[in-house]
Amino acid sequence: MVEEAAPQKQGSAARARSGRALTPVPLRDVQMPAVARLSTGIGELDRVLGGGLVPGSLVLLAGEPGIGKSTITASAMGNLVAAGTSVLYVSGEESVAQVRLRAERLGPDALSVPAIAETNLDAVVATIEAERPDVCVVDSVQTLSASELSGAPGSVGQVREVAGRMMGLAKRLGIAVVLVGHVTKEGAIAGPRVLEHLVDCVLQFEGERERTYRTLRALKNRFGSTNDVGVFEMADNGLVEVQDASARFVAEATRGPGSVVICAMEGSRPLLVEAQALVARTELVPPRRVSNGVDRNRLALILAVLARHAGVRVGSCDVFVSIAGGVRVDEPGADLGIALAVASAARGVPLRGGAGPLAAFGEVGLTGELRHVPHPDRRLAEAGKFGLEPVLAPGPGLTLADALERALEPAPAGADDLSVAA
Ligand SMILES: Nc1ncnc2c1ncn2[C@@H]1O[C@H](COP(=O)(O)OP(=O)(O)OP(=O)(O)O)[C@@H](O)[C@H]1O
Ligand SMILES: [Mg+2]
Repeated sequence: MVEEAAPQKQGSAARARSGRALTPVPLRDVQMPAVARLSTGIGELDRVLGGGLVPGSLVLLAGEPGIGKSTITASAMGNLVAAGTSVLYVSGEESVAQVRLRAERLGPDALSVPAIAETNLDAVVATIEAERPDVCVVDSVQTLSASELSGAPGSVGQVREVAGRMMGLAKRLGIAVVLVGHVTKEGAIAGPRVLEHLVDCVLQFEGERERTYRTLRALKNRFGSTNDVGVFEMADNGLVEVQDASARFVAEATRGPGSVVICAMEGSRPLLVEAQALVARTELVPPRRVSNGVDRNRLALILAVLARHAGVRVGSCDVFVSIAGGVRVDEPGADLGIALAVASAARGVPLRGGAGPLAAFGEVGLTGELRHVPHPDRRLAEAGKFGLEPVLAPGPGLTLADALERALEPAPAGADDLSVAA
């Protein structure tokens, strides 16, 4: 049951029905105001937004608690103020003193952001109408509440009402509104999930709190592609853009048994990440299958194909797979890399790279074949940029078993090979 505000009474039934016919206009004759996008001064954020904030648009920035939502919005607002844009920061979670504390970390620009701490929706709307900022941040949408609804802040009815009022305001006054929303443990954006259809753009901030890398991606964008991903690093002075994420990940790659570099695609952008696997004998039945940054079901599938078609049987071993740096790769192109990492870990031998670690991409099919994935040229180019050669990729007739044979160093005599464990 969702509580909703009672609709305002129409004057009379007759007036409600007296709609007047409108004149449709061919789209080319529609007057289009020249809207310049507002740059947030954070390159990666602008890119994910599709080139900056669009005036009059509603952006939902969702992420788990503590991931850095307030930090990135505060920096962006600081940059906007410095560029002469008027902004307003509405904090429903923290007092203005706490907001200031964060801003001090972020630098002088962030300190010039005008802020209010308020949870009453009417008061917030009145302030925005009086101030008429170009950009307004509401941190967070779950903390504001409309007095005409009795539900607790954060309930579906309240969240919807808050977003609905904000949208009306955004469109009417041409304000770009950024709503910050929390994501629950289950991954659904608590409450704000119900907003996805309403807002123009949904940005998801991901990453693990303990790790330094955070990724920002657009789940929906009415003004840009949803393919772009921004990579950030949490530092003392806020979130720092990681422009050459691949360089970091490649430099950190270990080259030991169980390590491989995956040429992954983050949307339209190639990204090199290191996948690591650990295979260890266990008494546990069933053995453990732990994955970090990789889908568990995908890992199960790859293990099954390895066992059935490539002679790598790890049935009595625990298998851990992790993408270094806390990045998540959710695309089939990562399959081959994961398979190689597991096989290398199971055999206890490193992969045959060139001057650097071995790089790989390709989808593993259920019959043990390697399948092509989109953008092989971009993936190869990215690997080439960092001197990774050779790159193992799907080719005509190449199977997973062939790929393993090519990539794995022969095991030295007396090596503890776990790949034949029943
Ligand atoms: N001095 C510091 N140096 C480095 N990182 C810091 C520092 N202070 C805070 N952080 C990081 O900032 C994160 C909190 O950022 P922020 O408050 O923007 O998150 P949030 O997503 O808004 O959280 P919430 O959901 O609680 O509102 C912390 O998890 C911590 O990792
Ligand atoms: Mg916050």
